[in-house]
Amino acid sequence: MDIKEKIAELERRDREAELGGGVKRIEDQHAKGKMTARERIDYLLDKGTFQEIDKFVVHRCHDFGMEKKKYPGDGVITGYGTIDGKLVFLFSQDFTVLGGSLSGPFGEKVCKVMDLAIKNGAPVIGLNDSGGARIQEGVVSLGSYGEIFKRNVWSSGVVPQISVIMGPCAGGAVYSPALTDFIIMVKKTSNMFITGPDVIKAVTSEEVTPEELGGAMSHNTKSGVAHFAEESDQAALDRVKRLLEYLPRNCWKSPRSIVCTDNPDRTDEALNEVVPTNPRMPYDIKDIILNVLDHHEFMEVQEHFAKNMVVGFGRLKGMVVGIVANQPKYLAGCLDINASVKCARFVRTCDAFNIPLVTFVDVPGFLPGVNQEYGGIIKHGSKIIYAYCEATVPKVTVVTRKAYGGAYDVMSSKHHGGDINYAYPTAEIAVMGPEGAVNIVFRKEILEAADPDATRQKLIDDYRNNFASPFKAAELGYIDQIIYPEYTRPKLIRALEMLKDKKDSIPARRHGNIPL
Ligand code: HXC
Repeated sequence: MDIKEKIAELERRDREAELGGGVKRIEDQHAKGKMTARERIDYLLDKGTFQEIDKFVVHRCHDFGMEKKKYPGDGVITGYGTIDGKLVFLFSQDFTVLGGSLSGPFGEKVCKVMDLAIKNGAPVIGLNDSGGARIQEGVVSLGSYGEIFKRNVWSSGVVPQISVIMGPCAGGAVYSPALTDFIIMVKKTSNMFITGPDVIKAVTSEEVTPEELGGAMSHNTKSGVAHFAEESDQAALDRVKRLLEYLPRNCWKSPRSIVCTDNPDRTDEALNEVVPTNPRMPYDIKDIILNVLDHHEFMEVQEHFAKNMVVGFGRLKGMVVGIVANQPKYLAGCLDINASVKCARFVRTCDAFNIPLVTFVDVPGFLPGVNQEYGGIIKHGSKIIYAYCEATVPKVTVVTRKAYGGAYDVMSSKHHGGDINYAYPTAEIAVMGPEGAVNIVFRKEILEAADPDATRQKLIDDYRNNFASPFKAAELGYIDQIIYPEYTRPKLIRALEMLKDKKDSIPARRHGNIPL
């Protein structure tokens, strides 16, 4: 063979590998409204930057006639490239090859890029579209999954890991995405479940469709497993790109700041009117969040889950911040199990990746209820405490209205390491709300009064004026400044600039023991 023939051979093999499971299966993939594994990579990465690894790897299985079913690449495309100039490693499961099922060599390919990602400190993106463990390979496939899970855990908090679910993801295979930082699901074409509808029907007699059981909206609204639900493959890949704008390459770096073209001194008198003076009136905390962030841009995370808690990313004077906020519009902003888990997970994600936290507080307390207690609100609520207390990134807090009881402490209070704690004049910081407090403390006086209702109301008003304000907390130094709401943006920016080089640590240990 001369050199021309050798190059022609390479070209032939390249083309063969790039055809995956063949033209017919590619057409089937398109007919389902899905891109192919290679189209997804082309769409996601900066043009011409993809460097493929292990393109010619094939499986080594000889059972069930598998020696006749070999495809170069073996159902997964792996490698590295850049997104917006930033290095990323990725794997893209190819459903056109044996249903994207995972063989031993398939798993080895994924592990190779995960190892490179850890050593080189860059994010890993997994594009999932697979029938799970390759049945013909038996325990070899299970072993491979185990190797991937181990690397997911080792990478956790070291490099960002993002999973996009773009087709089936069933059985134990779900645990790799579950161990990553973010899960993005495509509506209608993706699903995740440990056991599918048929097994569930056989075991529990429950009837459920795959979409109801494990579709994008089920995991975005009910289980909280997923963080984003997108309309199409393209939209999901766009989400990855936007998410990466807020994340650093690894835990030793900070997210990239950008030049801010929004006025850092921007004030807005409308903010003075957002929080109603009537403590029973709800309002939308997102009105404040959107008002203060650069260009009013907020990327909400887990938008559809536990709506009484709002979390997400934005920028202040070009600096990336993680926003955490109680939402008075839902359940009056109470902390329940789901909101606690959502909050704690996000706080830990931000702390792992050097993203300062800005917390807006308007919380009447933890949600009362037998279901909450039996469900373990004690254990789950304590996750918020754990997350904020261990977080050493800059922490700035704004109490907009209620901060009552234990909920006052847990929401980034001074006592849990809040660096700068602001309060609006509308803030009410106390052990409990006026109604509850008066009923307990003055029960006797109210019962014995000539006009109990009028007496109760007067006592409530007195309590509100004396205790349900930010001034007691400010007198004690628990609140650093009571601010005019219209100045929220410049105040947050000043604080974050002051805290830019913050160094802090907590006592060394093997690892903490967060209540799970
Ligand atoms: C081998 C598989 C496969 C698998 C699909 N295929 N899943 N081959 N192992 N796990 C093959 C099919 O035989 C078929 O090949 C091709 O992929 C396309 O599959 P279809 O069934 O035609 O596609 P579709 O109708 O779209 O259905 C997709 C599917 C279904 C829902 C994913 O294939 C399915 O239910 N597969 C099995 C899922 C499963 O139970 N996996 C094991 C999960 S447990 P041909 O050549 O006929 O076209 C698991 C354990 C992990 O993963 C444990 C980790 C610890």
